[in-house]
Amino acid sequence: EKTLPLAGQQVLITAGPTREAIDPVRYISNHSSGKMGYALAIQAQNLGAQVTLVSGPVALPEPLHVNTIQVSSALEMHQAVFAHVAAADIFIACAAVADYRLADIQTQKIKKSADEMTLSLIKNPDILADVAALPDGPFTVGFAAETQDLEYYAKDKLQRKGLNMIAANDVSNQDIGFNQADNALTVFSADAKIALPKQDKLALAEQLLKIVAKNVSANSL
Ligand code: C5P
Repeated sequence: EKTLPLAGQQVLITAGPTREAIDPVRYISNHSSGKMGYALAIQAQNLGAQVTLVSGPVALPEPLHVNTIQVSSALEMHQAVFAHVAAADIFIACAAVADYRLADIQTQKIKKSADEMTLSLIKNPDILADVAALPDGPFTVGFAAETQDLEYYAKDKLQRKGLNMIAANDVSNQDIGFNQADNALTVFSADAKIALPKQDKLALAEQLLKIVAKNVSANSL
């Protein structure tokens, strides 16, 4: 009997967008559907892993047999990830985390008055970079969604954030990526480049996880 590629592995995944509150009724967010991250959670579980999924607000059912933690803002996502990262062998950051949040969240609904208004934003913590910087942290996998110079920016992120692997996708191509069933990825590690052709996100997730599994076992030898 063959053991599954991720048997015995604890996999922590972030998925979906974050919502940065402006006031009690408004927020800043993005078009992430969460489909890729949820596909990764489902397939990691199928490949034998114990999976914790930290999810921003999405319209997807919680995957069966996956410990799903629902969050809203980037700060909440950061906190949920750090509450679970010590147990994780593999961390996959698939969420489209808002880079900035409101400097001050208004406690009452902002009233319409002036013709112009300015929102003051401050930088959110980089969850992936913070996990990658942990001394005995998990194997880290990031995503890079780019509209140009995919390889250059992906490799830059791999190095700058100190990741083990990065999966890059071209979001200038409307047929793949955001809110689409299909996606295509190019996976980079320090010494390899693997192109995964356009396919269903579930099939793509399985391929990516098999590459991750191989690299994790190679890293621990
Ligand atoms: O730098 P950039 O946002 O393009 O990096 C994308 C990668 O970093 C993704 O894996 C994303 O999940 C992760 N990220 C994060 N926390 C942030 C910003 C990005 O984990 N605040």
